[in-house]
Amino acid sequence: MSRTKTLSSDFYHSSSVFNQETESIFKNEWLWVGRSDQLTTSGSYITTDLINYPIIIVRDNSNNLKAFHNVCRHRAAKVISNKEGVCKHMICPYHGWKYDLNGKLMDTPKFYANDDFEKDRHSLFEISVAERFGLIFINLNKESKSLDKWFGGFEKIVSNYFTDNLILHNELRFDVHANWKTYVDNYQEGYHIPLVHPQLNRDVVWQEYKLENMNEYSVHSVPDRANSNQPGSFGWHFPNFIFNIYGRGIVFQRIEPLKPKWCRVVYNLFRPSDVDAEDFENKEGKYQLEVSLEDQKLIPEIQQNLQAGIYNEGPLSKKYETGVAYFHDLYLTKLNLENKK
Ligand code: FES
Ligand SMILES: [Fe+2]
Repeated sequence: MSRTKTLSSDFYHSSSVFNQETESIFKNEWLWVGRSDQLTTSGSYITTDLINYPIIIVRDNSNNLKAFHNVCRHRAAKVISNKEGVCKHMICPYHGWKYDLNGKLMDTPKFYANDDFEKDRHSLFEISVAERFGLIFINLNKESKSLDKWFGGFEKIVSNYFTDNLILHNELRFDVHANWKTYVDNYQEGYHIPLVHPQLNRDVVWQEYKLENMNEYSVHSVPDRANSNQPGSFGWHFPNFIFNIYGRGIVFQRIEPLKPKWCRVVYNLFRPSDVDAEDFENKEGKYQLEVSLEDQKLIPEIQQNLQAGIYNEGPLSKKYETGVAYFHDLYLTKLNLENKK
């Protein structure tokens, strides 16, 4: 039986909870960090930060993706400071240590044989990386299950909508003054549609919004009204990966934890390659921006109240908020806090 009340509010702003989440969740789950189309040739790379972890993703000379912690094995400088680019080797800007595209240390200028160190044991720290749906995922835990296993049945759900002719239409990023879970909670229910999303409410029958929660993901579905080509199915995979359908397009979304009270929401909207960009922007592009801005207006206000110390927890609807309940139960399991369920 799933829970009938929310997590208590301290989960949404405490630094110790945030640190625990980093250890127990974000260092163990597969996380979407970039797109394959950003890394087309050997030596092309992107860098990013995952909470406190600077990361490099690079395509090696055999066209395989590699990911490393962006930390030099000499004195911990970032080996690459650019956001993206193409390189033959990775050369640390501090003292010039040089790594090949597989992270192996090749050259240490002016460091001599009598210096007490073994070059072979100073490769970059490697991270697991895998691609699916043109997206790049990494996992900081080298012992973790494969991306395939992690996706489970959710991969099939996305595959129903994903086609190879989709191309990136745009990427939107918003830093939101809210804990990442405040954002996920909002995604995990359609109960707020009639009051928060007027246009979406005209297009779908929200009362018939359905959720199936299983194997660490939730599949949402809602029937559309006559004359609208909105939704169908969409969904979320724990902890922070989401896909949505907008008319002819598909959106992948992630909610990155930045700090206890801040998250970054990243949307990648894709359109079929034969659809005109301007036409798509005027319809699906505007639509998805409108819906996301409606959520973004509300969520920081909820966050403020979760921090204020007045509210502690509230009841969840057994009909409309099963996705929130599922998320909270799963979250507590991951943190080994079964007793709080
Ligand atoms: S820290 Fe990278 S070469 Fe010194
Ligand atoms: Fe919403």
